[in-house]
Amino acid sequence: MASLTNTITQSRVWRSFFRHGMPNNPLDRSLVMTTNIFFHLHPVKVNLKSLKATYSLGLGIITTFLFVSLSVSGILLMFYYVPTVERAYPNIVALQTQVPFGQLLRNLHRWGAHLMVLAAVLHMARVFYTGAYKPPREFNWIVGVLLLILTLGASFTGYLLPWDQLSFWAITVGTSIASYEPVMGSTVKKILLGGPEVGQEALTRFYALHIMVIPAIIFLLISLHIWRVRKDGGLAANEN
Ligand code: HEM
Repeated sequence: MASLTNTITQSRVWRSFFRHGMPNNPLDRSLVMTTNIFFHLHPVKVNLKSLKATYSLGLGIITTFLFVSLSVSGILLMFYYVPTVERAYPNIVALQTQVPFGQLLRNLHRWGAHLMVLAAVLHMARVFYTGAYKPPREFNWIVGVLLLILTLGASFTGYLLPWDQLSFWAITVGTSIASYEPVMGSTVKKILLGGPEVGQEALTRFYALHIMVIPAIIFLLISLHIWRVRKDGGLAANEN
């Protein structure tokens, strides 16, 4: 049996697919992880306790999944949405009433956004509760804080896009609250709105931030965040 296994793992066909022998020893087990595109994100060795579903509750993965699902539904929404003050609101009404599955698409995006904020906050609470912010993971904690701020930023910028009464007044109130911040307040308001009040300039800026700038930075930071989890030796279970 052992010689048959050897013959298979030494064959050119096996070697062309797998760059390691049978994973029945520590070296080949490590190679299984590091040479596979799907496994290489995981550390070679993980703490058994961290694999329990009740340890992380999968909240980081759920947040990542929601980001991917929001990106897909967001791209589909862009097929119908035009960011001008004349067309934005009628576009949203038409999407809900005339486009097949339009209402479902809009609700997937809207509810996904609420859930992503909730999941990120719960994930942060879990990390805090398990003490996973301690060294060597303090850098990843900071990356997480940036991700949370950007997630809230994506929610805020998306809120204006339907251009209905609720969005218009929410952003009017939100940006005027921001303008009371002592040092940068009024500058931040001007940069966000591109003028003295919420109008076309604000809609253009919020749209660019919402569909390009913020998602691109979130994508890069999630990649960095997950890579850091791997480099910090997997989840922190048992160490603290
Ligand atoms: C867009 C938001 C976020 C995404 C997509 C995300 C994603 C993830 C994923 C997939 C993991 C590994 C699996 C897990 O723990 O469930 C993780 C771990 C971690 N996250 Fe986040 N995260 C986000 C926000 C945050 C926030 C707000 C913080 C804290 C301020 C944070 C700090 C950490 C730390 C320290 C770890 C390592 C945990 C450990 O070793 O036990 N993350 N994150």
